[in-house]
Amino acid sequence: MRIALIGFGGVGKAFIELLHDKHEILKSMGLTLILKSVMNSKGGIYNPMGIDPLRLIEHVHQGGELCEFPDEGIRKETFQNLIMRRDVDLLIETTPTNNKTGEPGLTHISKALERGFHVVTANKGPVLLAYKQLCTLAAKSHVQLGIGCTTGGALPTINAGRFDLAGAQILSIEGILNGTSNYILSEMEERDCSYEEALKQAQQMGIAETDPSLDVEGWDTATKLLILTNILMEEEHKLREIRVEGITRLSPQHIQEAKKEGKRLKLIGKAEKGNNRTALTVGIEALSQDHPLFNVNSTNKAVRYITDTLGDLTVIGGASGTKSAAASILRDIINIYKGYPFV
Ligand code: HSE
Repeated sequence: MRIALIGFGGVGKAFIELLHDKHEILKSMGLTLILKSVMNSKGGIYNPMGIDPLRLIEHVHQGGELCEFPDEGIRKETFQNLIMRRDVDLLIETTPTNNKTGEPGLTHISKALERGFHVVTANKGPVLLAYKQLCTLAAKSHVQLGIGCTTGGALPTINAGRFDLAGAQILSIEGILNGTSNYILSEMEERDCSYEEALKQAQQMGIAETDPSLDVEGWDTATKLLILTNILMEEEHKLREIRVEGITRLSPQHIQEAKKEGKRLKLIGKAEKGNNRTALTVGIEALSQDHPLFNVNSTNKAVRYITDTLGDLTVIGGASGTKSAAASILRDIINIYKGYPFV
């Protein structure tokens, strides 16, 4: 499979490293991933297979631009070139999320699908704003769109819902969907450390974003919940409908008081089907020990589905951070290669 990567931030770089590490395992599966093109918003390079991809990462770490990679024989790449290529089968889109316009990811994904490339994305904005339209484009071109990374990365969420709950009606989705806030709450409770200290650790571990406001103010949870609800419950909600609360107003006292009562404070995203409508909320809940999400601590995340015929199902775990996000992209690529129909 010939692949192109657009977006060379933490996840993009981790993907290149993973490609390097997993080369032999992929080959033993009969899958050779040939990196044809690597770009960020300023452009990139074409056909970097002859060079050690880790050198690219080093070059960028040292402040160099991808498109200025100093190697004879390397050709420069722009999105315009990339989209006209006939030598790419799949585009990986990992540019930063923009929940208002979806750009630049929305243009990248739409054009790639129209052109007949499969797409696997880590970018939530385009999925949040235009998933149905993107699926229509993918179906027209007979290609696949993998979005497993957008709703919890390593944690099986969207694909567990889609494949393992097929035929059941999902009555509610409840989740701890943001690794950063859950890590902070766990550290504050278990180690009695301060909010600032725990956040710093989450940033050092690559779980929190560089600007962690979306993580700690509940918007990352809301975005993931919305994608899951609209796709799995076949609804059409908007972000503005969700009542969103983050963890920033919590003090260590709140956490320790809950602990004394045998409870844990968790940031929960919830979509519950009512008689007339489905209510979506993101907020702090004090969970008691018998709640399935009580023991979701540290870097773990979780999702719980309650269904009409397949019962109550909770998935807990999955690593957090850029490496596992990259691995969840690779997971979708492998499943596309194997012919699993996402669209
Ligand atoms: N920073 C996010 C988290 C991952 O803490 O889970 C990106 O969605």
